[in-house]
Amino acid sequence: MENIKAGILGTGFYVPEKILTNADLEKMMDTSDEWITTRTGIKERHIVGDKQTTSDLAMFASQKALKNAEVNIKEIDCIIAATITPDMPFPSTACILQDKIGAKTVCAFDVNAACCGFIYALTMAKNFVENNTFKKVLVVAADTLSRIADWTDRATCVLFGDGAGAAVIGRAVDDRKVILGSYLGADGSAWDLLNMPGGGSRFPTTHKTVDDKLHFLKMNGNSVFKLAVRSMTNAADKVLSECNLKNEDIDLVIPHQANLRIINALAQRLNAPLEKVWVNVTRYGNVSGASVPIAMAEADASGKLKDGQIVLLDAFGAGLTWASAVIRW
Ligand code: ACO
Repeated sequence: MENIKAGILGTGFYVPEKILTNADLEKMMDTSDEWITTRTGIKERHIVGDKQTTSDLAMFASQKALKNAEVNIKEIDCIIAATITPDMPFPSTACILQDKIGAKTVCAFDVNAACCGFIYALTMAKNFVENNTFKKVLVVAADTLSRIADWTDRATCVLFGDGAGAAVIGRAVDDRKVILGSYLGADGSAWDLLNMPGGGSRFPTTHKTVDDKLHFLKMNGNSVFKLAVRSMTNAADKVLSECNLKNEDIDLVIPHQANLRIINALAQRLNAPLEKVWVNVTRYGNVSGASVPIAMAEADASGKLKDGQIVLLDAFGAGLTWASAVIRW
């Protein structure tokens, strides 16, 4: 059988224009720039316009990734969208995106793995390409967490932002940007730490579920914090060992951007100096699954990544889920 290596052909990201700073939040609720900065590192986040949807953000990020890859949308034979804030419960945001972006009538579906969504989708795309099921897969992670944040709950709403990141996956060109391996996992017994309870079969939407605010994101921040550091460290160890690599081989860590303290704790455990860790949580907040591909697209565009460098993607999220991947740039 032909030995196909899947690689990243292009990356792109998009964040909406409107910026909400910590100073803006100070005017809206009892919080402070000082509290938000010291606890999370976040300074500002981007928020969707009233008429924008998750698929709009996904479309802009995808168009940039396609341009960067020099791939025409008609060449794409599979679309995977990772999101926990779909345009609507069904059909999938991937199907809506397929129509909006002018793709052919190809396979399109969503992945729900919260902040790990991009790495889960990337892994599927890698396997599709390497099995020769599809030749070019568009992977996009997009979220509009501002739509499900409870803007009266200061403990959660200050953490999140909106945005999208995308990558075109296909046969690696000149052995560059090869996805060497990935590691995915989940612990469903901790589903109650982070969720949006309303609107599904458990609590179908009624006046009461709305009055009880079940349509908003709920989180036990302290418990998630501890599990985040542990699960990301473990996911990094697992994928590095699968790829026969050591911590010191990593040239760049691209972690999920939930909280600067979580990122620092992870860097410490990986023995990675901070200049080897991509950080943008300060500017975007937590954009769920879009955090990793936005950071990867920024790193790609920065020109800092050189051929052959080892890039570690590492995330955790609701589920709880965890995921890591290694790319040889
Ligand atoms: N402004 C001011 N005070 C606040 C705010 C705020 N925005 N939010 C909470 N506080 C107060 C609390 O009321 C509490 O006051 P009290 O001591 O009088 O009761 C105090 O600050 C401390 O609150 P804690 O929740 O204990 O603060 P902590 O240091 O744990 O930080 C935080 C909270 C930032 C949420 C932290 O727990 C965290 O980052 N957890 C991880 C969250 C995360 O990563 N989520 C993403 C998961 S995956 C996904 O993205 C879908």
